[in-house]
Amino acid sequence: MNILICYASTEGQTRKIAQFCAGQLIAKGHSVEVISAGDADELDLGVFDAAILAGSVHLGRIQSELGDFARTHAAVLNGMATLYLQVSLARAGEEETDMAELAAIASRFCADSGWTPGAIHQIAGAFRFTQYDFFKAWAMRWIASRKGQEIDLQGDTEYTDWAELAQILSDWP
Ligand SMILES: Cc1cc2nc3c(=O)[nH]c(=O)nc-3n(C[C@H](O)[C@H](O)[C@H](O)COP(=O)(O)O)c2cc1C
Repeated sequence: MNILICYASTEGQTRKIAQFCAGQLIAKGHSVEVISAGDADELDLGVFDAAILAGSVHLGRIQSELGDFARTHAAVLNGMATLYLQVSLARAGEEETDMAELAAIASRFCADSGWTPGAIHQIAGAFRFTQYDFFKAWAMRWIASRKGQEIDLQGDTEYTDWAELAQILSDWP
């Protein structure tokens, strides 16, 4: 199959996740194109059989360029096998209120675009102190301390469960 992976990533973890998904699908014999939503204006979706859209949560919202992409191509996406991967730090924990909030963010994203994914998966992201400016680093330090998480304030701390992601893709599309 010819598969599209379109992603939006602010600090880089969702890009890494998109590339991992591509590797898994290529290993299964599929042909895969990975593209950032910001570069996808000219893309012809007619050549693809299936698509993964992936974006990350920042202050309760997904990147607007991924929303624009989903809205523009909703009719075509709704006619093929699709997955929506929503990357966040809340998913790294177990709190029920956080999971409900993530589900609400995904519902809002899909309702706003008119796209109905075949499946939605919440994926744990990463702290990326190597990518944060002063203010982001300050805010993320506060979030980490509130959650009682031990993190590397100079480096990156990854929570993405690669085995779980491989399992999700094992029988998709
Ligand atoms: C400024 C900022 C705001 C964030 N807001 C949220 C949030 O509201 N909920 C959440 O679960 N994670 C939040 N995160 C964590 C990101 O979703 C997480 O770091 C993710 O891995 C980012 O993916 P990316 O590197 O592809 O952008 C936030 C991160 C930053 C830097």
